Amino acid sequence: MSTHFNADVLVIGSGAAGLTLALSLADKHRVHVLSKSQISEGSTWYAQGGIAAVLDDDDSVEAHIADTLVAGSGLCHEDAVRFTVERSKAAIGWLISQGVNFTRNNGGDTYHLTQEGGHSHRRIIHSADATGQAVHSTLIERVRNQPNITVHEHHVALNLITQADTGSRKLRCSGAYVLNNQNDRVEVFQAKAVVLATGGASKVYLYTSNPDSASGDGIAMAWRAGCRVANMEFNQFHPTCLYHPKAKTFLITEALRGEGAVLRLPNGERFMPRFDKRAELAPRDVVARAIDHEIKRLGCDCVYLDISHKSPEFITEHFPTVKARCLEFGIDITREPIPVVPAAHYTCGGVVVDTDGQTDLQQLYAIGEASFTGLHGANRMASNSLLECIVYAQSSAEHIAANLDRIATPDTSPDWDESRVTNSDEDVVISHNWDELRRFMWDYVGIVRTRKRLERAAHRIKLLKREIAEYYSNYKVSSDLIELRNLATVAELIIRSAAERKESRGLHYSLDYPELSPVARDTVLVPTNFAGQDVIVSKNA
Ligand code: FAD
Ligand code: SIN
Repeated sequence: MSTHFNADVLVIGSGAAGLTLALSLADKHRVHVLSKSQISEGSTWYAQGGIAAVLDDDDSVEAHIADTLVAGSGLCHEDAVRFTVERSKAAIGWLISQGVNFTRNNGGDTYHLTQEGGHSHRRIIHSADATGQAVHSTLIERVRNQPNITVHEHHVALNLITQADTGSRKLRCSGAYVLNNQNDRVEVFQAKAVVLATGGASKVYLYTSNPDSASGDGIAMAWRAGCRVANMEFNQFHPTCLYHPKAKTFLITEALRGEGAVLRLPNGERFMPRFDKRAELAPRDVVARAIDHEIKRLGCDCVYLDISHKSPEFITEHFPTVKARCLEFGIDITREPIPVVPAAHYTCGGVVVDTDGQTDLQQLYAIGEASFTGLHGANRMASNSLLECIVYAQSSAEHIAANLDRIATPDTSPDWDESRVTNSDEDVVISHNWDELRRFMWDYVGIVRTRKRLERAAHRIKLLKREIAEYYSNYKVSSDLIELRNLATVAELIIRSAAERKESRGLHYSLDYPELSPVARDTVLVPTNFAGQDVIVSKNA
């Protein structure tokens, strides 16, 4: 028999988005938060550069909006951009009120704002170069002290539970089946409202700045449950991740370039001015493509990011984390350039939502990197994502709070059925397929794409999906199997979306279609079981 849990709200994910939403509701409602591993593991913890917001008198909402639209290559939804940017100051105010310690100018009353690619002003508030840790540790502490929030660590949601809603005649989400990794049992979590805050899907690529949790679980679960997914072809590659055989994934924050670091070839030549007049501060797609081009042209392993012309005191004050981490690998950034390569960093697409975070499925919300709000268009501007996490977590919380009293408690769902599966005796299938998938995604669906490469990837994913489905139906679920199944789903969504886009725009660059189409269109994929339609409600429901 499965253990059953009930709450007002179930939040799947404990990053900036999930914890902000939980804290915003917990005064009045019982919230359960799930985390795949420990509460701090997710992209939020690793964020370095900061959070974009209009905080300086010389800056303006209009300028932040204009910069975001330019970076997004004509595909941002202007209403979503305005919605987010107009709330940026309040979002930062809320974080400060929770206790986040942002860096101040010379330890005084004003906050230090740094610069990043695409921004026409200094508008990135930060905690030195470990902003994510400062934000996340503060939110975690608040959550730990909130009696209405129960956190379930090492709990992996594997499928959403849906049932017909009597009133609206639409399908509603009423919970999730969740693998408890502490006892290997699948448990049933039910709630009046369910929130996907599961982060992005960059783990689908061989090289990524993201932690292991970024396997696109929320996007895959929502898709399986009947939600539309949009713009999955726009996976952002961060231009500068540390290149060292022993460094698993370590980002070199864009704020280095904001503070004057330049990119050089192995022979010392500065190359970015040849590609864009904004040089190192061009949007990420431009810089990542330029690096990729130079690495392929010269056959070298990496390029170099050089900030050694700044004083050691300045570097130590602003970039203590990057400096210390590089020193572990014998690189002294105050004296020598840092070897860097691009790596998959951010999923611009995701589950389609409105400004209240509502998906196509009743009572299912999506926030943070798992969602598609329209903010990022074809290329996310640096430091706009943590902002999106906070703003949409708060607007979704408001919507949930305003509606929760009217929502019926869901019917009790059946236990997870394990009667026809056995323990796996060949886990090598999982590890092999995992490696293969991430490698062909990197080789065929990476920074530069072609029709032929996408066709090859589509062929590979079809075979892999068949094998994974067979495995899934015969063996007991494990975390690795759940993630592999989800990675295969998001990989397929990325390949399909990339194949549908017959132009080059923002992060999607195709050698077969190098031109920008005059009409900017989102790639919206609609599942065959689309939840936005009426469902047949059984007679006695
Ligand atoms: P995450 O923080 O990734 O959290 C996802 C949560 O979901 C985790 O708790 C995970 O355990 C849980 N989860 C996932 N699947 C399941 C499942 N099946 N069951 C249960 N739980 C699940 N953005 C900025 O704006 N500024 C920056 O400076 C910045 N720097 C970055 C640096 C790095 C190295 C990286 C990787 C990203 C950076 N980003 C930055 C992007 C930003 O950090 C992320 O977009 C943002 O933190 C995402 O937050 P989130 O809450 O949506 O997801
Ligand atoms: C960075 O610090 O370079 C990452 C910023 C971001 O991804 O927004």
